[in-house]
Amino acid sequence: MIILKSPQEIDRMRVPCKAVAEVLKLLKGTIRPGITTLELNAQAEREAAKLGAKTAFKGYGGYPYSLCCSVNDEVVHGMPSRRELIDGDVISIDFGLVIDGFYGDAALTIPVGSVSAAASKLLTVTEESLYVAIKQAVAGNKLSDISHAVQAYVESRGFSVVRDFVGHGIGRSLHEGPQIPNYGPPGRGVKLKPGMVLAIEPMINELKPDVKVLEDGWTAVTVDGGLSAHFEHTVAITPNGPEILTMI
Ligand code: MF3
Ligand code: CO
Repeated sequence: MIILKSPQEIDRMRVPCKAVAEVLKLLKGTIRPGITTLELNAQAEREAAKLGAKTAFKGYGGYPYSLCCSVNDEVVHGMPSRRELIDGDVISIDFGLVIDGFYGDAALTIPVGSVSAAASKLLTVTEESLYVAIKQAVAGNKLSDISHAVQAYVESRGFSVVRDFVGHGIGRSLHEGPQIPNYGPPGRGVKLKPGMVLAIEPMINELKPDVKVLEDGWTAVTVDGGLSAHFEHTVAITPNGPEILTMI
């Protein structure tokens, strides 16, 4: 179900969204070779506590951590561990908070030390595809205009779109309708309206789009071992166009 938000509700959503952006910015500054992803999770939890916020992912469908840390060939839902990051890794950090009953959700992928040219290109193209998608999040467009924008941008640059996970509406729940695939023809699906708030999140692979989930039940990895990147913003559709609520 798609739940439209009033301007007052969008104002309330600014708070968790801004907090998510601030925490991700801090985590980005902490990421370096030698740090473990469990340390990043702990830092995210400390910052959430300071902000008086509840983390959104812990306990969601049984997920045991507050942060998703997906390294290299991990696509999404990587679990924090004692794994130390090393120079040349890429790590996606995905984080959500609830404040005053409303959720915010965002993700970004960060190079650890110096990464290969191919990795760097993947990150740039994935981040750009998110902004290209957000440009389509305007009232009067159709939902799949967002999807198509990601696919066209990414595939013309030689990368592939993950099919198995999608973006989503967000508000008083982490996941509301509509589902937002990152591929498809333009001009399909519901008409976008002011008051929709969408978590748009392209997940893009270096090689083939196929992914599989590991035995831990969460970690999604590329089947071919190629790198994957993920960027996400929570975006409100307003009468004046898209507004990125999780802008860092
Ligand atoms: N940003 C992801 C999503 O929107 C993170 C969810 S992880 C989970 O689905 F543990 F909460 F499922
Ligand atoms: Co999300």
